[in-house]
Amino acid sequence: MPAIEIKPNVYWIGVNDRTTDLFEGLWPIEQEGISYNVYLINDEKKALIDLVRGMKTDEFLDQLAQVADLTEIDYVIINHMEPDHTGALCTLRKIAPNFTILGTPKTKDMLQSFYGITENVQAVNNGDSPCFGATSLQFVHTPFLHWPETMMTYDVTHRILFSCDAFGGYGALRGGVFDDEYPDLEFYKREALRYFVNIIAKFTSPVLKAIKKLADVPVDIIAPSHGLIWRKNPGEIINLYRKWAEYATGSAEVGVTLIYGSMYGNTEAMMNAVAHGITREGVPVEIFDAARTHISYILPSLWVNRGVMIGSPTYEGLLFPPVAQVIEMAAIKRIQRRKAAMFGSYGWSGGALRHLKKLIEPIKWELVDSLEFIGHPSEEDLRKGEEFGARFAAAVKEAEKGE
Ligand code: FEO
Repeated sequence: MPAIEIKPNVYWIGVNDRTTDLFEGLWPIEQEGISYNVYLINDEKKALIDLVRGMKTDEFLDQLAQVADLTEIDYVIINHMEPDHTGALCTLRKIAPNFTILGTPKTKDMLQSFYGITENVQAVNNGDSPCFGATSLQFVHTPFLHWPETMMTYDVTHRILFSCDAFGGYGALRGGVFDDEYPDLEFYKREALRYFVNIIAKFTSPVLKAIKKLADVPVDIIAPSHGLIWRKNPGEIINLYRKWAEYATGSAEVGVTLIYGSMYGNTEAMMNAVAHGITREGVPVEIFDAARTHISYILPSLWVNRGVMIGSPTYEGLLFPPVAQVIEMAAIKRIQRRKAAMFGSYGWSGGALRHLKKLIEPIKWELVDSLEFIGHPSEEDLRKGEEFGARFAAAVKEAEKGE
């Protein structure tokens, strides 16, 4: 994509990544891709804001060359040390050793531990306001959003917030960089939620602190490191992030995430009856086969829904392993205080329910009901399963009134 002037002397010079299969080596993006949004302040002093993954260095240098020469760059502002923002740094340093790297004091330490870089590094304080000509910037420290060294850079002159990972999302840019260039933002909103839950969710308190810290800052443009630049309606992505962050402590939406696994179809047969009961009550349900769906796609549903229905056979005295793994990851991401119920088949002795109770106790999921059966569910079992699903859906709706 060509370099794009966002405001006078402020450019997007990022790159798309459509070849990495797993972001952070963990989260699938082979279908969606991701963008590494680099920005250039092309004023009397020239500054880059964040960089790209190392494998994208050549492509990034071509982007930069459309507007400026690397040897003219005075500053590289590192909002965040994660290598999707800094991977190109060592190569750039070899080509142009004289630029000064700006970052928080913790960034200074990390530059040494990650890349052995100690020269031409300057730590900046929260609120520092350098002037690069007509363009004035201000640094806003945002620790643990989502690493301890992270900060945002605010362009005071043009009212642009370079927000780093916050307000970002998966999804390569499809020819345009701005929200107003797309008639339908559903893809980017969906991928922003998946990114939020995969990457940011554990740090919801820093998200809310940052939003509060920036409440009085006039922002015309939100320019994150990944995904769309929000120009038409910057408040939309801020409000989405606020809403998602508040789900960590407040009440989530009326809906059920049904996670199940099935070895020979017995638990799956019951799953269909349970899902029918939930739907009968008018409660939305999303269904995931835990063995066949990457957890990256299940987590957003768990994040937004207050009800979790778990379908699992007993497997060697425990939960079916793919189902257990989903719950363990939900605990890592601090998805807490859900209403839960469990159903499943067992062959000769149970154990899945006991295992589930152990897993959900620390994350305060309230187990409101369970339904286990031996072997294949009978017609009577299935009838009970439908009622079990309907009862659980009603409890989820009740939680809306009571919490
Ligand atoms: Fe975009 Fe935390 O890396």
